[in-house]
Amino acid sequence: MRDRQTDEYDKKVDELRTKIKGLDQLKVRDDVFDEYTLLGLYKLLSRGWITAMGGPISTGKEANVYHADRDGTTVAVKIYLTRTANFKKMQDYITADRRFINIGKTRRDIIFAWTRKEFSNLKRAEKVGIPVPHPLVFDRNVLVMEFLGDENGAFPQLRLSEFEDAQAVYDEIIEYIRLLWKKAKLVHGDLSEYNILFGKGHPYLIDMGQAVTLDHPHAPGFLKRDLEQLNRFFNERCITREVPDILEELCGSSPQ
Ligand SMILES: Nc1ncnc2c1ncn2[C@@H]1O[C@H](COP(=O)(O)OP(=O)(O)OP(=O)(O)O)[C@@H](O)[C@H]1O
Ligand SMILES: [Mg+2]
Repeated sequence: MRDRQTDEYDKKVDELRTKIKGLDQLKVRDDVFDEYTLLGLYKLLSRGWITAMGGPISTGKEANVYHADRDGTTVAVKIYLTRTANFKKMQDYITADRRFINIGKTRRDIIFAWTRKEFSNLKRAEKVGIPVPHPLVFDRNVLVMEFLGDENGAFPQLRLSEFEDAQAVYDEIIEYIRLLWKKAKLVHGDLSEYNILFGKGHPYLIDMGQAVTLDHPHAPGFLKRDLEQLNRFFNERCITREVPDILEELCGSSPQ
C-alpha cells in the first residue's frame, strides 16, 4: 500500500527528472535512471559538477556512459546499472579487496562501492602518470570523469582504431601495465582492446572498476590474463614479448 512518504518520495523524484536539464530527452531504458541514480545526478547537478546531460557514448550491461556538459566543457558520466550489472562478479572482486572491508552486502551497497572503487583506481593510476580519464567526482552509482575525445567525438576503442606504429602502441601499453603494478600497486584486471581508447596517437586505459591491489589473491592471475589479452590482439600486428618473461620481471614468478 502506498503511504504518504512514498508519494512524497515519488514527487521528489519527478521534480528531479524535470530539473536535470536534458534528462527527459534521453532515449534510454527506463531502468537506467532509477531513484538512486536520479538522486546521485541531482546532487552532482546542484553542486555544479554537471550542468546538463547529453546523449549516450556507450550503453552496455554493466554501465552506460553519457556526454554531459560542465560549464561549456564536455565531461563523461558513467552510470553503473543497478539492475543489470554483474553483481556476483563485483562481490567476488570487492570482498577480497582490503580497501573495501566495511561495505554492506546489498546489491546497492556493492554497486556504490564499485563506483567508489573505480574512482579511487583512476586516481591511483593517474598519480603515477598513466593516461586515464581524470576522475572528477562520484555519487552513488554515478562517476563523472574527463571526456576522452575531440571535436570528432569520443576516442575510439583500440579494436576500432587505425594506428601506424603498432609496436610503439604495444610498448607504451606494456609500460603502463608495468607502472600500474610497480608504482600504483594495481592490476587492471580487464584489459583488452575494448578497454583501451586510442586518440592523438596514444593509448588511454579506461574501465578500472575491477582493478585490484596487489594483495588481492588473484592479482598475479589477473596480470597474466591482461598480458595474454594484449598479446592476442597485438600478435599479428607487431612483435610481442613473452608473457612469462614479463611476469618474471614484475612478480618474480609466473602464476599458474
Ligand atoms: N572518459 C571517457 N571518455 C570517452 N569515452 C568513454 C569514457 N569512458 C568510457 N567511454 C566509452 O564508453 C565505453 C564503455 O565504458 P567502460 O568500458 O568504462 O564501461 P563498461 O563497464 O565496459 O560498460 P559495459 O560493460 O556495460 O559496456 C568505452 O568503451 C568507451 O567507448
Ligand atoms: Mg569496458
